[in-house]
Amino acid sequence: MKRIVVLISGRGSNLPSIAEACAREQWPAQLVAVISNRPEAAGLQVAAAAGIATQALDHRAFAGREAFDAALAEAIDAHAPDLVVLAGFMRILTPGFVERYAGRLINIHPSLLPAFPGLHTHRRALEAGCKLAGATVHYVTPELDYGPIIAQAAVPVRADDTEATLAARVLDAERRLYPLALGWAVNDALRVENGLVRQRDGQAQWLVFGA
Ligand code: GRF
Repeated sequence: MKRIVVLISGRGSNLPSIAEACAREQWPAQLVAVISNRPEAAGLQVAAAAGIATQALDHRAFAGREAFDAALAEAIDAHAPDLVVLAGFMRILTPGFVERYAGRLINIHPSLLPAFPGLHTHRRALEAGCKLAGATVHYVTPELDYGPIIAQAAVPVRADDTEATLAARVLDAERRLYPLALGWAVNDALRVENGLVRQRDGQAQWLVFGA
């Protein structure tokens, strides 16, 4: 059984869909812990309700990024994870931390990378007049919101979209995309070659949601 630790900072919006897929598709895996850098994160309750162990590690209690990341790594390693999944974890990670989990650290970002790394992706997509938006699941490398792309989901941008309506549509897509990508990861169906991620069975690494 692969052991999955999930890191969150907020609502844990992707947790239910991941937990459901893990059970429904009988992944050879279990969600062993959800750790938040914010004690007040609503996602901790979501995790607890699903019977997953939770832990809060308040980054504000640490002198700096290095100290926090060291404590975070210790908390994660206590669960001996095979996979560390970022699900709305809003902290920049130190290169040392990223290296430690190289190949088993996965993130979801609410844009079609490499467009719009960083914050406010939906506002930026609207301002740029994008006609498509979406989300990307990728392996984490030291560069922010970069790293080999595992899968992407595209959604239309509507003329009357606001940041909120677009964010909601992308989040809906994430609920389909993240379980798909993580299912491949726990089933060893992914291979990285020259920085490109291949799916073992040739499955499409994208989802497109219509108008
Ligand atoms: C999602 O948009 C995800 O892509 C990003 O954080 C958002 C989820 O955060 N990384 P939350 O679970 O709603 O706090």
